[in-house]
Amino acid sequence: MKHLFEPYSLPSTTLNNRVVMAPMTRARRPDHVPGPDTAEYYRQRAGAGLIITEGVFVSPQAQGYSDVPGLWTDEQRAGWAVVTDAVHDAGGRIFAQLWHVGRVSHTSLQPAGAAPVGPSTLQAQAHAWVQGVGFLDASRPRALGTDEIPRLTADFADAAARAVQAGFDGVELHGAHGFLFEQFLNPHVNDRTDRYGGSVENRARFLLEALDALIDRIGAQRVAVRLSPFTRASDLPADDQAEAVYAYLAPELARRHLAYVHLSDLRLGGAADVPEDFLKTFRAAYDGTILLAGGLDRTRAEELIASDLIDLAVFGRPFIANPDLVERMRHNLPLATPDPDTFYGGGAVGYTDYPHHDGSAA
Ligand code: FNR
Repeated sequence: MKHLFEPYSLPSTTLNNRVVMAPMTRARRPDHVPGPDTAEYYRQRAGAGLIITEGVFVSPQAQGYSDVPGLWTDEQRAGWAVVTDAVHDAGGRIFAQLWHVGRVSHTSLQPAGAAPVGPSTLQAQAHAWVQGVGFLDASRPRALGTDEIPRLTADFADAAARAVQAGFDGVELHGAHGFLFEQFLNPHVNDRTDRYGGSVENRARFLLEALDALIDRIGAQRVAVRLSPFTRASDLPADDQAEAVYAYLAPELARRHLAYVHLSDLRLGGAADVPEDFLKTFRAAYDGTILLAGGLDRTRAEELIASDLIDLAVFGRPFIANPDLVERMRHNLPLATPDPDTFYGGGAVGYTDYPHHDGSAA
């Protein structure tokens, strides 16, 4: 039987176990450059089979939250190189999550105070986060011109190239949670009449073109994608045709031979928004590695892996307070509870000061 604590081979690297640390924004880098604290935080958690970093902005325009590290400068690349060395020295593997928030931003976070960009001018009833100010209503976006899309795609490819130079084992395109790519996928946010709007194929075009640009630059075995089927995050309207989107995407993703597809269930309404029936359908249509995140514990993760619905189990909040989460789950030790007040911003408190299960420093 397949087991949570056994090694797993991705196309480009082998993981020590099937436990993955979820991408989690921690907003502690006002200069957007990863620092020694970033390296220490990820090193402490290298017992995960795979770490996926916090969302990393690919350009200044991509930003919707303050104090998040980026990958658009050589200085940022050098900062991340220290992080990947620390994780590799500790025996771990690490992918960078590449992020553009699209319309979910505020003019004060945008270059020259410009409007955020999206598929349309439809404003999100959602929030951007500005350090020292708090949550601000997302500003009215400007609709991207058809001829601007290749530049955004190039920003992702450039960030991916820097990620590989910085020693990352791969990159995960953030295609989830109502940010840029899901804004294009959603027929109620995307009202375009060009080749990026209308049919399912057109709405999925930007996502697939971005993935192809990453594949061209760093190779398919290093490219992954995160998607959140049926999510309503960031004011994404319900799409009763979402199944058609995924029926189209599954074989398109399969033929690209990606490192993995990461499905995120935010469970915003409390219950699962990625039903087991969907997982079965997607599993049958997509023959690569599948990750699932959202409300998992050891028991549920083992059930999902043993029943062959997923390959790798992703844990978010448990990794914040339990740097040795894999050891704790392996030995059925109690888990510490993370403090939501220190999720975003601040220093070492609630970041690098959570101890091991025996009370020793992580
Ligand atoms: C997140 N999540 C998240 N997701 C993502 O794709 N990129 C990101 O940068 C973040 N940032 C983030 C910050 C914090 C503090 C939390 C708690 C969560 C979502 C995360 O990856 C995961 O999907 C959820 O936390 C659900 O998994 P758990 O926590 O139930 O295991």
